[in-house]
Amino acid sequence: MTQVIEKIDNEIYNLEKVFIPTMGALHDGHISLINDAKKLNLPIVVSIFVNPKQFNDKNDFKNYPRNIINDIEILTSLQVDFVLTPKSDYVYERNKYSKISSGHIGTLFEGKFRPGHFDGVLTVVKRLFEIVNPNTAIFGAKDAQQLFLIKQMVKDHNLKITILEGSTVREKNGLAMSSRNQLLSNTGKEQAKKIYQNLLYVSKLFLKTKDFSFAIEEGLEKYKASNLKVDYLEVVNKETFNIPDENTKELLFLTAAYVDNIRLIDNLKVEL
Ligand code: PAF
Repeated sequence: MTQVIEKIDNEIYNLEKVFIPTMGALHDGHISLINDAKKLNLPIVVSIFVNPKQFNDKNDFKNYPRNIINDIEILTSLQVDFVLTPKSDYVYERNKYSKISSGHIGTLFEGKFRPGHFDGVLTVVKRLFEIVNPNTAIFGAKDAQQLFLIKQMVKDHNLKITILEGSTVREKNGLAMSSRNQLLSNTGKEQAKKIYQNLLYVSKLFLKTKDFSFAIEEGLEKYKASNLKVDYLEVVNKETFNIPDENTKELLFLTAAYVDNIRLIDNLKVEL
């Protein structure tokens, strides 16, 4: 039976378990992470906490979709063991958490357009790890830079937690599932498929020409032609988040663009 709790007691703290932190407004991407977790045959904790510290824009925080009743219904039907819905003063209890810096990479790509975002993400994830004490935690591949920085934080802080990557789930038209999609109109959802189409176009062009800069320039032109405002379209080495070089095994094309004034992110991996 699913237990909805606001705090983790000693008994739950000491269990071997797998953890999926979320900000709620659950969709099929989250469900896929939970199905990945089930394969580990351990109790599952899913947290729902819209973390104010990772929003650099107050309106974005205010407008972030919240649907706790529906979320709990979904998690109960999936037989998740514990749903943690902590209050902010428990998560950010005075002197019980420390601010984590996401360093240089946290200032690039997403971080360039959302200053402080990744410091806020790492701060809450580290604190939630301390509260929940998981053996394994699972994060979606759509938030590729977040996943990279969390793995790096786990290494830097010597945390004994295995971080698993859950695959991106897409709508039929290719749009990556995101809680923010709930804020899109029907025409917006149709328009938003162009983000993934553009990533496919750029990666194919790169594989044909082996020229990143050319592929990305063409991708930016395609954004312009489809009237989508773009924040960035870039490529990195997936392992390091640095500029790819001759030793790079996997590339990641990363992008953020706006549809209906909603900012959406996506990425595409290319093996070399
Ligand atoms: O990816 C998210 O939903 C959030 O950034 C996370 C990891 C739950 C931290 O608030």
